[in-house]
Amino acid sequence: MRLKIIAGNWKMNKTNLEANELVRGLVSSLGDVDHPRVVLCPPFTALSEVAKMIKGGPFFLGAQNMYFKESGAYTGEIAPSMLLTIGVSYVILGHSERREYFFESDDIVNAKVKLALKTGLIPIVCVGEKLGDREKGKTEEVVGNQLDGSLQDLNSEEMKKTVIAYEPVWAIGTGKTATPEQAQEVHVFIRNRLKEAHGAVADTISILYGGSVNDENASSLLKQADIDGALVGGASLKVDQFTKIVKSA
Ligand code: PGA
Repeated sequence: MRLKIIAGNWKMNKTNLEANELVRGLVSSLGDVDHPRVVLCPPFTALSEVAKMIKGGPFFLGAQNMYFKESGAYTGEIAPSMLLTIGVSYVILGHSERREYFFESDDIVNAKVKLALKTGLIPIVCVGEKLGDREKGKTEEVVGNQLDGSLQDLNSEEMKKTVIAYEPVWAIGTGKTATPEQAQEVHVFIRNRLKEAHGAVADTISILYGGSVNDENASSLLKQADIDGALVGGASLKVDQFTKIVKSA
């Protein structure tokens, strides 16, 4: 059985006051029901606030990024130990916005993934093709290269602890979701790619779908055999929408 995960990627949204309001709503709507694992990924500044609010409850805390060094003179960066000590368990790495606006290459993502695993954080490694790649029939080539590069040199024990998120770039924040069939097809491709390197371990790895997931499309996506959860952006900022997505999983 693979772990089902619904992760909310708040991106650069929510002051601490706003985060407090959102989490208060989520604790009351989801605090005591049986649901898949919920990971909240606020901006760095709200992590401590959210950590305090979800203590003892069913929610897990995730960061949206980290640096690939353990400490030192790296102005403006955040080390994994800083995240771990405030109760962070997950870290989103290689999100397409990081790749695009902050020039994160597969090598950088790989260094971050390795350090996250070494220090005890669970990486959620994002991959996904752009619209032009899909139109040229290059989805598998692009996603395959991102997987190979971002997960380079991981052994099967490390792979087992890693979560993958397939997020077609053309579906992020655009309102255009991949159809359940389109998403399932790429999820199978990803699982097979992982199987080539890690055998049966691939069947235990949670592969999340992300890209305009909302309360209306979530259940049909999550019904697909190889979609093990969702990475939700915009809809994770609203208590009612995120609650419905979690409940539909
Ligand atoms: P979206 O973002 O749900 O707003 O499309 C998803 C993501 O980027 O993780």
